[in-house]
Amino acid sequence: MENIKLNIEKTLGFISKEKLASYEPKVKACMETLEKGTGLGNDFLGWLHLPSSITQEHLDDLKATAQVLRENCEVVVVAGIGGSYLGARAVIEAMSDSFAWLKEKKAGQPVILFAGHNIGEDYLYELTTYLQDKKFGIINISKSGTTTETALAFRLLKEQCERQRGKEMARKVIVAVTDAKKGAARTTADKEGYKSFIIPDNVGGRFSVLTPVGLLPIAVAGFDIEQLVNGAREMEKVCASENLMENPSALYAATRNELYQNGKKIEILVNFQPKLHYFMEWWKQLFGESEGKDHKGIYPSSVDFSTDLHSMGQWIQEGERTIYETVVSVETPNHELKVPTDAENLDGLNFLAGKRIDEVNKMAELGTQLAHVDGGVPNMRVSVPMLNEFYLGELIYFFEKACGISGYLLEVNPFNQPGVEAYKKNMFALLNKPGYEAESKAIQARLNK
Ligand code: PA5
Repeated sequence: MENIKLNIEKTLGFISKEKLASYEPKVKACMETLEKGTGLGNDFLGWLHLPSSITQEHLDDLKATAQVLRENCEVVVVAGIGGSYLGARAVIEAMSDSFAWLKEKKAGQPVILFAGHNIGEDYLYELTTYLQDKKFGIINISKSGTTTETALAFRLLKEQCERQRGKEMARKVIVAVTDAKKGAARTTADKEGYKSFIIPDNVGGRFSVLTPVGLLPIAVAGFDIEQLVNGAREMEKVCASENLMENPSALYAATRNELYQNGKKIEILVNFQPKLHYFMEWWKQLFGESEGKDHKGIYPSSVDFSTDLHSMGQWIQEGERTIYETVVSVETPNHELKVPTDAENLDGLNFLAGKRIDEVNKMAELGTQLAHVDGGVPNMRVSVPMLNEFYLGELIYFFEKACGISGYLLEVNPFNQPGVEAYKKNMFALLNKPGYEAESKAIQARLNK
């Protein structure tokens, strides 16, 4: 079977092949550091060999729980934020019919909605209103079990689910994915007798999509988690190679770091398939939270083309030359649609008649690549044979491994996120959370100045 492939040819007018080749020993050292667990953040390396260590028994347990939710719910709300949200959403949106949300809601094929990733009062009001006449269930996902956004949404949803469906049914359709021992989500799950899954201690949030964090919601949505894991397993093998040119994760890590050293401070992840929008969001979190430290790190951004060619396209073509692009390109769409012939040809589109829509899309992609490279934007391309669970699994592991290597090349700890705490401390102080009395006083004094 074909695998995803990385092509870096269109970066070589900007960085030299020789310089890139010189990364081989450095990348090898980073890979060894990951394997031996001798680097920064080494207590969070559980993702490295996660795909090959997932057992059939675990997958069967996840599938059986998913089946309970599928049979008893028209809607399942997945509560979580950051790494406890984006991976599941990325895969579900990539695999779903774009108009699934407009179709009839029925038990057996529940609609998946997301909450706990914002504190929008209107969002939560509208969600809870929508759920008023729905048989809904909840997957509450939080590794720490204390994240405010998620806990707040779960408090609202739990109360509503129990009120609408009764305590007994609520116990059946609420599932927790959290730490084995710590946190309020664990305490609640144990006390209420919810089915629960454990997020391994040594897997950080943004590397957790192949744990129950991602696998359970994806299974509830009706997608094949075995194939997802198989794809990741395949990439685990491919990305073990110490040969830079044969290991796509290593080559991607080396290329982006060399581009960074040459003033390309912003990476734009590009798709030409709107279904990949949330995959880009997952990728931004993976690289942003892993590398943006010590006043270093490539800024990860993303665009949906060709939509954004009509907005950000101008900036990319002629703005500041500090960017490069990585295009995630799906080779073959899952459905076929051809441009019809029109006898009158009023729109002048008969030159496209008989062509597949994807052929037009591919020419937009090629035309864009040529234009952007001419405009001074290096371009990498990750080709994905088609959008299915297997290749999404490959993509996930490819980017995770690249992120680990890339973070070590940059000499940061890719597995922590100390910067995320700053806003929380202020928010808790402003809300007078017990335990934050000193911070509350200090922040009030600062605001009253
Ligand atoms: O990558 C991370 O560790 C974070 O983005 C977390 O996933 C996010 O903050 C949510 O944390 P938790 O799962 O503890 O609620």
